Amino acid sequence: MPVDSDSLTAFRRQVTSARSLDAPLWEASRHLVDPTDWPATRNSLVEAILASSIPDGLKQDLRSALPVVLPTADHTAAGLLKQLTGLPLTKALRALCVFFKVGRPATAKWPLPTVTPDTIDRFIQTHHNPFDVLVEQVPASVLDLGAGDLSFAEELATLYEPALIAQHRPLVLHCLDRLDPSSQLGGPLHAPPLRLNRLRSKPGLEFRFYGDQDMFALDALERDQRLAARYLLVTCWAPATPTFAYEPTRLSARCLAEELRRTKGDSRQIRHGKEAALEVNHAGRSLLFPPWKFDIRGPLALLELMARRGALCVLGAVDSQVCWEILSQLIDDSRVRPTDVVLSAQTLPEIFGETYRQLSALPVGGSCLLSDLTPLRKSFPSVLHTASGQPAPYRFRQVKIQRGALFEGLPASSTARRFQGMSEETPPWLLTLVPEPISIS
Ligand SMILES: C[S@@+](CC[C@H](N)C(=O)[O-])C[C@H]1O[C@@H](n2cnc3c(N)ncnc32)[C@H](O)[C@@H]1O
Repeated sequence: MPVDSDSLTAFRRQVTSARSLDAPLWEASRHLVDPTDWPATRNSLVEAILASSIPDGLKQDLRSALPVVLPTADHTAAGLLKQLTGLPLTKALRALCVFFKVGRPATAKWPLPTVTPDTIDRFIQTHHNPFDVLVEQVPASVLDLGAGDLSFAEELATLYEPALIAQHRPLVLHCLDRLDPSSQLGGPLHAPPLRLNRLRSKPGLEFRFYGDQDMFALDALERDQRLAARYLLVTCWAPATPTFAYEPTRLSARCLAEELRRTKGDSRQIRHGKEAALEVNHAGRSLLFPPWKFDIRGPLALLELMARRGALCVLGAVDSQVCWEILSQLIDDSRVRPTDVVLSAQTLPEIFGETYRQLSALPVGGSCLLSDLTPLRKSFPSVLHTASGQPAPYRFRQVKIQRGALFEGLPASSTARRFQGMSEETPPWLLTLVPEPISIS
């Protein structure tokens, strides 16, 4: 049904005045129309519009006027929005967010970083320790994915809490792990209760730990404000293998199954007491793992998750197999992503050529920018399907590579510390990445 002119005039007036009535939300709405965040914002906005009491015709008009991506080349949508709100495109979208109260809960509870990729890029090029960004930028917020026994979390808090207390601001530290705290499986990866209590009782720390939490299923946590939509820093230490050691968009299910059988042994899902478990027959021994141990998600999923959630991404104690699989996604030349070829000591030199030789020659403690060796990938495909919709394309404007498990002044996880004693393992890697959304003009 067409919208009558009185309703339209009243709606315009209300939308315009909502901006000045809720100044904090108006300010926070800048972030909501950021190209990376816009697809999720758009979904919430459509939901809020449909659930509202405005006339049905107006609901339909507003819905069809919302661009799918930002920036948009759709002048008809922009024209329609101007007609409906009286405002130019970006202001109209922000005003609609304020009017329909989209973004209020998340922004109210956890502050979001507003620092630009350019500033973060300059920071990592001039600082040896990426975590020092916490004392230079706001908010001091960290998300630790696959946090294991929380030893990294405790080291980070111990190192940065005093400086942040001196600045009268908290360290927001959110950690999660897929391991169910009540499971008999997982051994040393469980967070010890004493450490959890110490972290929970630190005065300058906004600490949360979510166990039994898959990092790729965060929508509910975010909706309930238990997580922030975005952190200054997202980190992942010793990313799980085989979960991130193989890229499923490159390796077929059959190739993956064969490789897992060849390297790990036969496996099957069983019951272990009251819980489900994965039984793996490896070198004549029967080993038990959580049932999801062999879920292969691959580096693209991890990179996208980190890029969407953080202004700066740090992957520490990355073992060589996971690291090369990640690098094969970060490099522009698609020949480093061959179909159904497993990366190994035999195949790496030929696939990565000169880049392989240069990185292999990097000594422990050494560092380089990946872009000094080879051009970085210009755009990443989205592989995550979340309730908040498909995010906009992104890339990394900078990738710094450091070799080694431990670095002076940097917090480290218990797995990173264990690398020291593993003489047969090649030294792991530390990757620091600066994500940025890609503008579509
Ligand atoms: C090698 S351990 C590293 C633990 C810790 N970060 C460290 O460095 O000591 C990998 C961790 O990732 C967790 N993990 C694996 N898949 C996950 C997922 N999809 N979501 C959340 N955590 C996951 C595992 O339970 C395990 O604790």
